Amino acid sequence: MPVPDPCVVVILGASGDLTSRKLLPALYEQHAAGTLPAATRVLGVSRRPKPDEAWRDELREAVRGHVRDFDDARWATLAPRISYLAGDAARPEEWTRIAARIEELAPGAACGNVLFFLAVAPELYEPIIAGIGATSLVPRDRRVTCGDDRRAWRRIVVEKPFGVDAPSARRLNQRLASVFDEADIYRIDHYLGKESVQGLLALRFANGIFEPLWSERFVDHVQITAAESLGVEDRVAFYDQTGAVRDMIQSHLLQVLAFVAMEPPSVFAADRIRAERRNILESIEPPDAADLPRAAALGQYGPGGDRPGYAETPGVAPGSTTETFAAMRIRFDNWRWAGTPFYLRTGKRLAAKRTEVLVQFKPPPTNLFRRLGREVAGRMVGADRLLIEIAPASEVRLRFLGRAPGSTFSLRELEMDADFGGRGGGAEPEAYGPLLLDAMRGDQSLFKDREEVEAAWSAVEPLIGPASEVLRRGIRDNYPPGGWGPAASEAILARDGRRWSSGPSSSPSV
Ligand code: BG6
Repeated sequence: MPVPDPCVVVILGASGDLTSRKLLPALYEQHAAGTLPAATRVLGVSRRPKPDEAWRDELREAVRGHVRDFDDARWATLAPRISYLAGDAARPEEWTRIAARIEELAPGAACGNVLFFLAVAPELYEPIIAGIGATSLVPRDRRVTCGDDRRAWRRIVVEKPFGVDAPSARRLNQRLASVFDEADIYRIDHYLGKESVQGLLALRFANGIFEPLWSERFVDHVQITAAESLGVEDRVAFYDQTGAVRDMIQSHLLQVLAFVAMEPPSVFAADRIRAERRNILESIEPPDAADLPRAAALGQYGPGGDRPGYAETPGVAPGSTTETFAAMRIRFDNWRWAGTPFYLRTGKRLAAKRTEVLVQFKPPPTNLFRRLGREVAGRMVGADRLLIEIAPASEVRLRFLGRAPGSTFSLRELEMDADFGGRGGGAEPEAYGPLLLDAMRGDQSLFKDREEVEAAWSAVEPLIGPASEVLRRGIRDNYPPGGWGPAASEAILARDGRRWSSGPSSSPSV
């Protein structure tokens, strides 16, 4: 694997939550692991004036709170490479100054390479891209050389949500293309940086035993859950404009779904993997307006304990119908999955922080044990399943039936489990770290291409467009905190004779 090139990481939106909770902890972890090129520099740009030293102190405390093994001495070797510039990157006239500062830092060890990271509110993406485009940092012929004639690069990492719907994503893609080559655009989704999400590819394609079963012939249905116990916390301004469908389903859950459902690529290479992810997302058949109330549910958490419900949270617009929970049934119009539904759900203030994929296999074609009575025969329904837990633990568990000990013939459930993450239950490194290194080495496998993003928007359009009004009626306080979301979410599966794997009734059935 190529080593990452040193560069200046320019974080636009340096005072935001993403920078302190994810980006700097990720860079620190990679630095501590010795994988961050020593000549890397970090420049944070944000509006509020503050000296370099003050920003470094803030970051040190933030990083300390977000990584497992913080070490002051290690931090001391990273801190001098971090600097700060007060500036409004959304104002094109400020870019002369910002570009000058980048140019001071970029030559020399970083060899002129610059990695921009858009960690700002999505409405600022376009003016910032225009600002970068107006500087000499990205020349028209895109040729920048480093002292010794090697080509230097300028790349941009764009956070989600990438647009607010398919047309705005298309427009943003055009804006980016007017400044950067596609090969230099990195549409990030940190779920693709999670080792356990990538583990899905190994599980499916490094083994011969799962793939023959991986289709509508043997799989009854698939459930993908990303539950969170926290509420919207201090991100109200962003969240109230965004909601769970745009924040989680359009990006993270559809990416996990793509890894579960895609065809095997012909070889493990960036362009082939991206092409397969795109193909599978393009074969989603979104529910039509008539089917929507049966295929999807939206919710908003109510008050509980001493905490206000979403609607009463300071900053939430009066009468807001923004969803903090979303569930949907996905059908594919393709050869492998036609007839096998995939159920997706995500929500804030649920019973637990839990991300998992459940693959429920069909029962055997005939029930050989039917004469042994309901108790025995009934166990065969919904017994075989593969549970892939992504967070908090990273485990895979295969459940199946065996003979129960005793003088009469009976069946019992057995389970085989494995440490899927290979870290003995320990936490994975922050997912942004490996992704930032990939961007520095020019590997786009775990980033989305333009068609993939647009296909993901089309798949969720009914849940965010005008048709979703029907799902938003009576949304306020429609689920209590600490549970598994609104009753309408249970009803999607109940109508199909199924149940969610965790929820009021825990064991899934076909
Ligand atoms: C972010 C969302 O992308 O992912 C947040 O904006 C969410 O709302 C977070 O909390 C969940 O990420 P993780 O890695 O904690 O599952």
